[in-house]
Amino acid sequence: MSGTALVAGATGATAARLVERLLADGWSVVGLCRHPPAAPPGARLAYLQADLFDPASCTRALRAWRGITHVFHAARAKHGETGVESISENLAMFACVLDAVPGIAPDLRHVHLVEGGKWYGLHLGPIATPAREDDPRPAAPNFYHAQEDLLRERQRGQPWTWSASRPNFLCDYAPGRARNLTSVLGAYAAVLRELGHPLDFPGSAARWHALMEVTDATLLASAMTFLATDPRAANAAFNVTNGDVFRWRDVWPALARHFGMAVGEVRPVRLEAFMADKDAVWQQAVRRHGLQPSRLADVAAWAFGDFVFGLDHDIATSTARLRATGFRESVDSEAMFVGQLAAYRAARLLP
Ligand SMILES: NC(=O)c1ccc[n+]([C@@H]2O[C@H](COP(=O)([O-])OP(=O)(O)OC[C@H]3O[C@@H](n4cnc5c(N)ncnc54)[C@H](OP(=O)(O)O)[C@@H]3O)[C@@H](O)[C@H]2O)c1
Repeated sequence: MSGTALVAGATGATAARLVERLLADGWSVVGLCRHPPAAPPGARLAYLQADLFDPASCTRALRAWRGITHVFHAARAKHGETGVESISENLAMFACVLDAVPGIAPDLRHVHLVEGGKWYGLHLGPIATPAREDDPRPAAPNFYHAQEDLLRERQRGQPWTWSASRPNFLCDYAPGRARNLTSVLGAYAAVLRELGHPLDFPGSAARWHALMEVTDATLLASAMTFLATDPRAANAAFNVTNGDVFRWRDVWPALARHFGMAVGEVRPVRLEAFMADKDAVWQQAVRRHGLQPSRLADVAAWAFGDFVFGLDHDIATSTARLRATGFRESVDSEAMFVGQLAAYRAARLLP
């Protein structure tokens, strides 16, 4: 099944692979963001410039797109790395889409919202493991809760359906995107190797031993298209992760092997502070390995690394509902890291 998809936040970490996937599946895609790139010639893809804080700009940009059948909302407001993100801003952005599209697109069939593991409050402390979609909400409010509540309310009595995905720690081969766990790991290893260190673990002993999960961006794109088009998934939210869990202590040897390094020790470090003066070390690695010119800060977002490695508890969400609904794809997380790092190496972006 295909149609015409509006992807809000089309250039973001989540949506970039979704756009690729939709085009490969024969969809027409309308990508909305504030800084649209040029669409490749011949692709059934149009980028629209609009600001989701400016409803008039949205309505103006979408006016000509009466054929929209599906909406994927993957935009998010600018944020820091504390895990706490603005409810009012993210809600206003989503409301802008929900206010504009149903009135413009008479054939609207589905609205898909991207949420995330922070739904369960994993940024605030331990969560139930595995966390299930209908677990009681954490006490602290979250923008995903507000967005999903709005979506449920707007869908009531409408001919279209909704779904939501909850990925956790998106990973990808994504040149130019520093906020990506794979490039953070790769640049961290490269700097340590250049300094002559083994591959130490930058988090705590608790993190080293705790359960962890991630979501491959390509798998998420596949799940989102499934959830938006399979009637069994209508009007529900789904955890979407690789389908396995791991502990860093068990994955670390494969990462060390990839870089030809010895596995080091658990040596907690604040990456943002540690890496602040390491650009010269990175430049040395760039020269030594003939990499494409880059600044260390453009390869890895260290504050994001500090967030990921700073959580000490088990992180695992259940994908039972997703499987029971008919989505069968899964990804081996260790193989995913090594494969994505190999792609960075082949492109001479990481050693
Ligand atoms: N990345 C992850 O690891 C991850 C993991 C789990 C869940 N999620 C969830 O996935 C969703 C998408 O996150 P993401 O990480 O993919 O976001 P992102 O990489 O920060 O991208 C945000 C997108 O929104 C657009 N945007 C931002 N402000 C806008 C505005 N005012 N008007 C129009 N477009 C705007 C951006 O383009 P412009 O700047 O050009 O406007 C960009 O396309 C969020 O709900 C996030 O919490 C992400």
